[in-house]
Amino acid sequence: MLYRLARSALFKLDAETAHDLTIASFRHSPKLATAAFAGSAVSDPVELLGLRFANRVGLSAGLDKNGECLDAWQRLGFGFVEIGTVTPRPQPGNPKPRMFRLPEHGALINRLGFNNKGVDYLLARVRESSYRGVLGINIGKNADTPMAHAVDDYLTGLRKVHAHASYVTVNISSPNTRNLRDLQDEQMLNQLLAQIAAEREVLAQRQGRRAPLLVKIAPDVSGGQIEGIALAARTHGIDGLIATNTTLSRAGVEGHVHADQAGGLSGAPLKDRADATLRELRTRVGADFVLVGVGGIASAQDALAKRAAGADLVQLYTGFIYEGPALIAACARTLAA
Ligand code: FNR
Repeated sequence: MLYRLARSALFKLDAETAHDLTIASFRHSPKLATAAFAGSAVSDPVELLGLRFANRVGLSAGLDKNGECLDAWQRLGFGFVEIGTVTPRPQPGNPKPRMFRLPEHGALINRLGFNNKGVDYLLARVRESSYRGVLGINIGKNADTPMAHAVDDYLTGLRKVHAHASYVTVNISSPNTRNLRDLQDEQMLNQLLAQIAAEREVLAQRQGRRAPLLVKIAPDVSGGQIEGIALAARTHGIDGLIATNTTLSRAGVEGHVHADQAGGLSGAPLKDRADATLRELRTRVGADFVLVGVGGIASAQDALAKRAAGADLVQLYTGFIYEGPALIAACARTLAA
């Protein structure tokens, strides 16, 4: 009820202004901002990747790109939090407007383009935070780094965040950085993962702790590509996969006034595609490999469907915007049962 009121006020603003306002209030007064919604945290500890997740429901990357609201996310009941995507250097992202609501479909289209304040800023926020739960840091490449040097940006990101992240996500699936998704193709993926995995070993030796590496993939991949991704992940000792990022498809939202906006579609219309990708991945990687399911969760039933499709953990973004913090507890409680 309270969230409905907050939402109707926020939805009067354009999508990105509402987002920025929420982040600013969560950042400056996490207790005040979350007081009305906190207290419903579900305790369902799960051991995976050598980490202890407070419950199976996490915040998906992109909502807190700079890691500014860690304390607020925990208070709202997320069992783990993924921040970023962060790039080595700060960058403004694409021109505005670049984020659109499709409320009739419970969906968003965004082409933000990794707008973020850079990895040093993010790490300063992590250091000053009192958050002690599982923290994923999602890394990407700067828009002006040529694809031929993309791996250098990932290596820079990994070196910077390794000591501070519970796990590190390698994001190769945003549709809003030119050619980024080519990194999902067999040859480029194997080259990228070989170098990232080697660097992780160097860091692990030096720091005495080996952060799990996850790779986040798109829903717009063919069966053959999924097989290649699963094989590459296994070959290079990747610890888990996150499926999925947003889609370029407009199936389900045809005719909407925003349907032709460029960018990635998220929310309810993505669900079946994301579930299918997850299911296919599970058959390729076997039972013991960690999979995180994300895309279109708007109810506890949707979270259960992700589990059935092979997810060990789930993440929320768009459903959280439309349904509010109650969705976190509803999903976590259902997955705990
Ligand atoms: C995203 N997503 C995203 N993912 C990522 O790995 N790095 C990022 O920076 C972003 N940024 C971002 C911004 C916005 C506005 C949205 C809506 C989404 C993708 C997100 O984490 C998730 O994978 C998809 O949105 C699918 O989940 P939902 O939104 O359907 O629950």
